[in-house]
Amino acid sequence: MKDKIEKPGDQMLVIFGASGDLTKRKLIPALYSIYLQNLLPDKFCVLGVSRTEMSDDEFRSQMADAIEEFSKNHKADNDISGFLNRLYYQSINTSDENEYKKLEERIIKLNKENNTRGNIVFYLSTPPSLYHVIPKNLSRYSLNKSSEGFRRIVIEKPFGYDIKSAKKLNKDLLEYFNEDDIYRIDHYLGKETVQNVLVTRFSNGIFEPLWNSKYVNRVEVTSAESIGVESRGGYFDGSGTLRDMVQNHLMQMVGLVAMEPPSSFESNSIRNETLKVFQSLREFSERDIKKNVIRGQYTSSSIGGEKVKAYREENGVDKKSRTETFVAIKFYIDNWRWGGVPFYIRSGKRLPTRVTEIVIHFNKTPHWLFGAYQKPNEACNQLILRIQPDEGILLKFAMKVPGQGFNVQNVKMDFHYADLRNTYVPEAYERLLLDALLGDSTLYTRGDAVEQLWQFIAPVQKTWNEDQSIPLYGYPAGTWGPETANDLIEEEGITWQCPCSNLTDETSYCEL
Ligand code: BG6
Repeated sequence: MKDKIEKPGDQMLVIFGASGDLTKRKLIPALYSIYLQNLLPDKFCVLGVSRTEMSDDEFRSQMADAIEEFSKNHKADNDISGFLNRLYYQSINTSDENEYKKLEERIIKLNKENNTRGNIVFYLSTPPSLYHVIPKNLSRYSLNKSSEGFRRIVIEKPFGYDIKSAKKLNKDLLEYFNEDDIYRIDHYLGKETVQNVLVTRFSNGIFEPLWNSKYVNRVEVTSAESIGVESRGGYFDGSGTLRDMVQNHLMQMVGLVAMEPPSSFESNSIRNETLKVFQSLREFSERDIKKNVIRGQYTSSSIGGEKVKAYREENGVDKKSRTETFVAIKFYIDNWRWGGVPFYIRSGKRLPTRVTEIVIHFNKTPHWLFGAYQKPNEACNQLILRIQPDEGILLKFAMKVPGQGFNVQNVKMDFHYADLRNTYVPEAYERLLLDALLGDSTLYTRGDAVEQLWQFIAPVQKTWNEDQSIPLYGYPAGTWGPETANDLIEEEGITWQCPCSNLTDETSYCEL
């Protein structure tokens, strides 16, 4: 990983799916932000590729609208023409290999005009059905490899649908690109606060000695969303939370929390360590799946006096759908560091608030000295790594309440990123795009890790498919998911943390 700010070398970025939503909402605003920081290569151009017929000017004008609508860094009086002039557009039918002739000619021409030295990053922001078609068609015209410059390919999520399709996709991609040139996106890894897990762990002397089964009681990861499936019902109904959030985002966070210290900050050094964690995940037995994997689907309810639709009433969703919008899992990592420590993870849509956080619950003190003054479940420290919103870190510990006797109270020591004035926190896509242009794959997932994670959830997918008796619990929109999920944590008097949008708030019920 690069530890100082660098400008990437001259190159061209070719975005497939340029007329799609991701390009408008994320990619172009992220590139624009990189441009504002003067971090785009000196010689650089973007070639948008899609089926829709459009001229360069029409594409530029659509992207100008996208910047106005979606870029957080755009000010109304900014002159964006310097950025827009670097954008070009080529319409082709990406499924038809003969059309790639047009693309080849355009790339050669733009490379000459813009002096991009034959260096190209291809970005696939298309439906997954095209992930193997595009590389194959690029290879027909030898666009995938070049002696003149580098060729990289960025693949959006979802990377496969199950272990079989992920393996096939890896195999197909490796026919045309080297592993080192394949950048698989998991945008959670691009979040500043997710990267901060590494810094918290490995640049402070006080946490690492405690970061193991001897001192940690359990680890909790929550990624909650208050929104439902919005306009993505069609996609989501074929996916579900296990594929959409757990196999990738949540497990990648677990990888960073649980990994051993890497020998260096080099991409493969870090990725080797997270892979080892994934290889140590205890395989689910059928009994585990029934007992330790809970799935739910939101039902209609009233939030703040307004009726909220049930999942099955959402556009694009099957009226009898059994797709899960909530998953909670208890699992173990069978290695020296984590033996016997339960990991609890959960994710869901239409939960009370949007929040992602990791909670390390430390063991109780060996002797309960202030028993008369402290509730047993309060006698343990917690470290909360808040990923979003109100990004920050919070440490809970016990203090004496001033006055007679030994009244003990839990207090919080908190740091909020927002307190760092004048520090710009980049969006995940900004960081990831810049890394791809720089050729730094640390924050991208490697093929073997992706396969390992599909392997981990494969027994769950299989059992859910085959055993109709496994319950899909309904939960009213706006609640913390099915009540059964609380039973995963078996210790008396202990349940999930109920995070609120503000890091330091702690109530049983957040704002709805
Ligand atoms: C995406 C999922 O990968 O992540 C979405 O497909 C989900 O369903 C989104 O809403 C959440 O991302 P973030 O950055 O808003 O937490």
